[in-house]
Amino acid sequence: MASKLLPRASRWLRPTSIPQYRSFSVAPQRLSDALMVHRNKPENNPSVPFKFSEQNLKVVDEILKRYPSQYKKAAVMPLLDLGQRQHGFTSISVMNEVARMLEMPPMRVYEVATFYTMYNREPVGKYFVQICTTTPCQLGGCGSDAIVKAINEHLGITPGHTTEDGIFTYVEVECLGACVNAPMVQINDEYYEDLTPESIKSLLTALKESATTGAKEPAPGPKSGRNTCENSAGLTSLHEVPEWTPEQFMRKDGVFDGEAKQ
Ligand code: FES
Repeated sequence: MASKLLPRASRWLRPTSIPQYRSFSVAPQRLSDALMVHRNKPENNPSVPFKFSEQNLKVVDEILKRYPSQYKKAAVMPLLDLGQRQHGFTSISVMNEVARMLEMPPMRVYEVATFYTMYNREPVGKYFVQICTTTPCQLGGCGSDAIVKAINEHLGITPGHTTEDGIFTYVEVECLGACVNAPMVQINDEYYEDLTPESIKSLLTALKESATTGAKEPAPGPKSGRNTCENSAGLTSLHEVPEWTPEQFMRKDGVFDGEAKQ
């Protein structure tokens, strides 16, 4: 019996060739040093008072009417947005006020505000520049890498930072849905598209002038001369006005003629 067990026992003792460690992966390097947790600061702590203005309270009423009263917490996102627009950023006091108004535990509001990147939980500059660096913008036109480099050079800051004069905050973001006009940036609520290193620099110069002298801000949209997203090489189809009009095929009551005859 013992002789039968021995070979099996020796097999157990044989050193295994399977490595006794596991490989691990790391998250990509963050280009911003912004904290992802709240730390009380003089300008952002729960004792800084925040109340919606009279005008915004009317907007709050309008927003709340969209939801059944027992589900008013569904209004948390538009109310946070409204608070951010009034206060300049989504401070802890804005979040607490929204929680109070919607009768939600503050933690539930913090969870929303920390999940969505459009809520700035730290103060930002007068112009909040978001450059899209997703693949279509990396590949379109001169490419977003060239735009990032131009912004770095022009503002003297890297993504996630604010200029010393407080005029610009600059971050990298994912697709903003204007890929056909790549590369592009969103500045506050406006899109500026079909950018080149020269056009982004002159745009930033014009915005700084506007902030310091009150000059008119540059018009948003493509900087290439396009109106929207039409083919910049001109029309490739539908060159002529068609000889027929849809009305020819419609009855006066709006029913398609061919269909009506069947
Ligand atoms: S990839 Fe930049 S807007 Fe879509």
